[in-house]
Amino acid sequence: MRSVRTDPRKRLLGGLDANAFLRRHWQKQPLLVRGAIPGFEGLLDFATMIELASREDCESRLVTRHAERWSVEHGPFNPRRLRRLPRQNWTLLVQGIESVLPSARRLLSQFDFIPHARLDDLMVSHAPPGGGVGPHFDSYDVFLLQGPGQRRWRVGRQRDLSLVENSPLKILQRFVPDGECVLSAGDMLYLPPEFAHDGVAVDACYTYSIGFRAPTHRELVSRFLSHLEDGFEDERRYADPDLVRQDHPAKIGGAMIAKVDRILRSMDWTRRDIADFLGTYLTEPKPHVVFKRPARPLSGAAFAAAARRLGIALSPGSLMLHAGAKFFMNGEMQRLGPTGQEALRKFADNRRLSGRQLPPRGQAADILYRWYRDGYIELQVMRSKG
Ligand code: SIN
Ligand code: CO
Repeated sequence: MRSVRTDPRKRLLGGLDANAFLRRHWQKQPLLVRGAIPGFEGLLDFATMIELASREDCESRLVTRHAERWSVEHGPFNPRRLRRLPRQNWTLLVQGIESVLPSARRLLSQFDFIPHARLDDLMVSHAPPGGGVGPHFDSYDVFLLQGPGQRRWRVGRQRDLSLVENSPLKILQRFVPDGECVLSAGDMLYLPPEFAHDGVAVDACYTYSIGFRAPTHRELVSRFLSHLEDGFEDERRYADPDLVRQDHPAKIGGAMIAKVDRILRSMDWTRRDIADFLGTYLTEPKPHVVFKRPARPLSGAAFAAAARRLGIALSPGSLMLHAGAKFFMNGEMQRLGPTGQEALRKFADNRRLSGRQLPPRGQAADILYRWYRDGYIELQVMRSKG
C-alpha cells in the first residue's frame, strides 16, 4: 500500500488529497508545503531565462527597486543588457512559459486536480539576494513553488488592500504581515486570492508561480454578449406602423421604449450557448502565443501512420477543452459525432494520446490532421504511460 509519504500527489499538497485541499484551502486559506516536489531543480537556468525574455513570443518584465520606488520595464529585452544587470534590487519575470517549454507543461499537469478551464499560466521569476516585487496581493489563486535558492515570504490576511498611488506596480500602502517562512527548493506556498504577500530573495533564487484565471463578472458579461452578437442573425429592423404624433418631437416616447424593451427581452440563451462561449473564450490563445505550422506537412495518410507509431501531443501553447460533443481548440469550436469523442476527450484531459488511443478513420481523425497542419498538435514519442 502506498503511504502518504510516497504518494507524490499527496506530497504535493502536504499529505492532503485533492478534495481535502479544495475543501479546506482552495480560495480560503494558505497552505505551506515543505518538500512538495523534493529535489526540485527548476526548469531553466538564467541563460535560458534571458533567451526567453528576449523573445517576441514570451511575455517578460524587469522590476527594479530604487529605495521606496519601483519601476517596471516590459520585454523583449536585449540579452546583453540582462547579462549585465546589477548585483541587487531587480527581478526578472517571464510569464506563460508553459507555451514554450514542454517541461513547464509537465509541471502544470501535476496541478490537474484543478480544472484546466481555471488555469492561467506558469510564471518564473529570478532575483538576486534582496530582490522581489514588493508587498502586494494577486486577484487569483497562486501556488508559489520554490526553485533553486531561497526566498523569504511574509504573508498577511489584511482587509486594507489600498495601493500606493501612481506606482507602475501594485504595491500595498500598508502591509501588515502576520506570518513568515523561508522557502527552499521544492517547498511550495499556496495563497488564495487577495492574500497580501511579499517575497524577498534570500540568495539568488527562482520562483515558479502556478497562477489561475478568474475573470471579472464584467469581463464575462461583456465577452458573452459579444459571443451572442456573433451568432445573432435576426436582420429585422425597428418598425412603428402604429406611430402617432407626439407633442414633444425630441422626447423618447414610451411606445418606443416599450418596443425596444420587447426586442431586448427576446434575446435568450441556453446552457449550451454558455458552454460554447466558455469553450471558445477560455481556449483563446494568449496574445504572445505563436503556433508553428509544419514547414513540410505530411500527407493525411503519412500523418495517420506516423501518429499511430509515435502518438500525438498538444503543442505547448495549445489550449483544448471539451463539453459534451463539442471540442474547443485555441478559440475554435468543433462538434463531433459519437465516434472519436472518447479519444478526443482523453486527448484534451491528458494533452497527449498514444498511437493505440487514436480515433479510427473519420471525422475525429480528419480534425486531428487539420490541427496538425495548423501547428496545434505535434507528433510525439510517448515518454511514459499513455
Ligand atoms: C515573484 O516570483 O517574485 C513574485 C510572485 C508573486 O508574488 O506572485
Ligand atoms: Co503575487
